[in-house]
Amino acid sequence: MSFPHGKTFSDHFLTRGSNILGLLFDWGMNPASNELFTDAHTTYSFTGETVTDAELTAIYDLAKFAPTPMNSQALRVHFVRTLEGKERLLPLLDEGNRVKSANASAVAILAFDTDFHELLPEHFPQVPNARDIHQDPDKRFSSARDIAILQAGYFILAVRAAGLDAGPMAGFDRAGVDAEFFSGSSWRSLYLVNIGHSDPQGQRPRNPRLSAERAIGWS
Ligand SMILES: Cc1cc2nc3c(=O)[nH]c(=O)nc-3n(C[C@H](O)[C@H](O)[C@H](O)COP(=O)(O)O)c2cc1C
Repeated sequence: MSFPHGKTFSDHFLTRGSNILGLLFDWGMNPASNELFTDAHTTYSFTGETVTDAELTAIYDLAKFAPTPMNSQALRVHFVRTLEGKERLLPLLDEGNRVKSANASAVAILAFDTDFHELLPEHFPQVPNARDIHQDPDKRFSSARDIAILQAGYFILAVRAAGLDAGPMAGFDRAGVDAEFFSGSSWRSLYLVNIGHSDPQGQRPRNPRLSAERAIGWS
């Protein structure tokens, strides 16, 4: 095992102090990127182990810190984790998706708040008229959706960071979910995320990803 700048283990440990994470990075091991990206998989089947409301709240409490335009927070989350809640949700899923949500410990309905702009004076006080930028309801709807899609990506990674497994899904009846769960409110459904502890059989082999050569441009 080698250390940067020809240092010995004890030199290096002294410099890093007890920062184990720093040492792992220097050794080429990056636990965060493995856990969030390279080793993590979409999950389709769960062990049934209970996930507590505190664990579910902790997911949101991580995701909320990731950046958004003008700190606009459009994402809303409705957790379905009771039998009664699942009975309301499952008929609204594409048939092939029902069994996946049925055995998840919880299903997060990720939504966007079309009135997210009302909170901008609180969340972005340095621009006192930020709310006025979003007066047009159609443009505001698109902005809310765009911001929440970004935050949904963060949410999926936050599930993994919280030590749980995630199975995001777009295959469901959005209008039906809105009528069943968000009637009379400004929330609109976006994606579902099945959450729990992955059954070892619950993953599919990794499909190929677009290589850096094909996906990156330079100038
Ligand atoms: C926004 C989104 C929507 C998805 N919708 C569905 C879905 O409706 N049903 C399904 O079985 N998988 C769905 N998936 C799962 C993807 O197919 C899966 O994440 C992708 O193939 C990567 O798999 P991997 O993490 O195992 O590499 C969805 C994933 C995302 C991020």
